Amino acid sequence: MEQQNLVLIGFMGSGKTSVGIKLSYRLRMPVEDTDKLIERREGCSVSDIFREKGEAYFRQLETELLRELGESKAGKIYSVGGGTPVRPENRELLKKLGMVVYLRVRPETVYERLRGDKTRPLLQCEDPLGKIKALMQDRKAAYEETADMILDVDAMTLEQIQSSIIMKMVSER
Ligand code: S3P
Repeated sequence: MEQQNLVLIGFMGSGKTSVGIKLSYRLRMPVEDTDKLIERREGCSVSDIFREKGEAYFRQLETELLRELGESKAGKIYSVGGGTPVRPENRELLKKLGMVVYLRVRPETVYERLRGDKTRPLLQCEDPLGKIKALMQDRKAAYEETADMILDVDAMTLEQIQSSIIMKMVSER
């Protein structure tokens, strides 16, 4: 039987990577992180790509990768970069790729979780909380439109997030 993919979207720091890894163990499905796939291909970090080639170049790589991933229905879990659903084209590709779960978080949660993080080029600025709020506001509709399921994860444990997603996957079968 062809197994459906699961796609995790959400802002930076929403827990996509951790949730993906946890679900991967539980469901015995391989997990892939699109940022990591891009880094491996390009041979450098996302920060280096932003610095040396610019954000537009990175966004193009994201779209090309999504297109490729959509060609095989592999029964995988994908966690994608926080900005991926912004391009309308990507939203269509994400929906085609599998069941999309949006891990929604409050800006303050992101700020606390990513304080001191140096790996997110978009948050290396004077006022990271202001930037988080502005980006989230801009992206809100894109995330919501793409999602088959929305989870407000600020106060949820990984265990609770995992159970909610599994229940949804079972009900969709
Ligand atoms: C970005 C999120 C990052 C990464 C890049 C841009 C964004 O991924 O793709 O730094 O625009 O929100 P994570 O959401 O995994 O941090």
